[in-house]
Amino acid sequence: MVSGNASGYGDGTRAAHAGLPAAVPGQPFLPGPVMAAPYHLDPHTGPRPDLDGYGRTDNPSWRALETAIADLEAPAGGAECVTFASGMAAIAATLLSLLRPGDAIVLPSDGYYKTRAFAAHRLEPFGVTVVEAPTAGPYPSFDGVRLVLLESPANPGLDVCDIASLAAAARSAGAIVAVDNTTPTPLGQRPLALGAHISVASGTKALTGHSDLLLGYVCTNQPDLARAVREWRGQTGGIPGGWDAWLAHRSLATLDLRLGRQTANATAVAAMLAEHPLVQSVRFPGRADDPSYAIAMAQMRRVPGIVTFTLPSAAHVTAMLTASKLVAASTSFGGLHSSADRREQWGDAVPPGLVRLSCGIEDATDLVADLEAALDGSARAVGPR
Ligand SMILES: Cc1ncc(COP(=O)(O)O)c(C=O)c1O
Repeated sequence: MVSGNASGYGDGTRAAHAGLPAAVPGQPFLPGPVMAAPYHLDPHTGPRPDLDGYGRTDNPSWRALETAIADLEAPAGGAECVTFASGMAAIAATLLSLLRPGDAIVLPSDGYYKTRAFAAHRLEPFGVTVVEAPTAGPYPSFDGVRLVLLESPANPGLDVCDIASLAAAARSAGAIVAVDNTTPTPLGQRPLALGAHISVASGTKALTGHSDLLLGYVCTNQPDLARAVREWRGQTGGIPGGWDAWLAHRSLATLDLRLGRQTANATAVAAMLAEHPLVQSVRFPGRADDPSYAIAMAQMRRVPGIVTFTLPSAAHVTAMLTASKLVAASTSFGGLHSSADRREQWGDAVPPGLVRLSCGIEDATDLVADLEAALDGSARAVGPR
């Protein structure tokens, strides 16, 4: 077996082997989930740093998964990962363990809406100044800013920002830089190599990809930051369960395969959408005519299988989803099954007909034919505009 830091291998090899223990005859490839609240203590010494003691701070299934994710985020080594019960738990841990009253934070105005809501409802009342900037810019001065949180590609609009140059500017102003790496996954983008201090993500989406668990993580090459978020987790208890950590680790092995199919499907779907008369606009950073194409090609290792497009109205989206046999109405993304979400229904400041489409691992010809027929059906049912 390839050990934790298999930096010389390709993505498929690294995903399949990440975090697995050395081969031991008679032992499984991935040891089973450890489900424990307390562990036995040594009655002579009591708690010991080299022994698991209590389930809010210690779990071998998390540690294996954390080794795997850290290996994917930073193949050259030097990074630590701390897993959480969900992406929001990881984001909250990052923000609340690092920010103090009087600090300022810069957030994407077009990124995941719950992060903005968290900042407005939890950080501002606590005395933190929250400044929003669109992912594509312009950005404010980072002077006096404690934390810059970027999200690239931004969800749902899929604008991409130049992480390396923003991280350099933020660092020279003395700010900590975190990147929400949910949409690309660590196989699509390595924020730490681009100059960020922290890669924070939801593992609920493509990272684990089976629509059956929630997970989050913070990955950093700064030991003091890792210590701060780990301590936060131990004190506040936003931990993943042992079963979920194991299931996530098992799912990681197919990440390269799943992403490859999802991106191929998105490429084919985006080409069809760009030609369909009902579609008013299409965003897919993998298309040469997309405003984010150049920076995505320069910065990302692969483009995720997500396409954002706009239909004339909410009724057109409803009709399309009703007619489709393969695309589920669902608010998550990155899963095995294609799904679509009309983002305005969640409060995003986007047109009512804007759809974030997550391409699954179905066959491209089936998916394109299904969506094309569903769009034709929507046009017939609701009208051409
Ligand atoms: C970009 C981004 N970050 C964070 C999250 C939060 O993740 P979770 O749902 O696992 O809490 C999401 C969820 O959709 C997301 O899209």
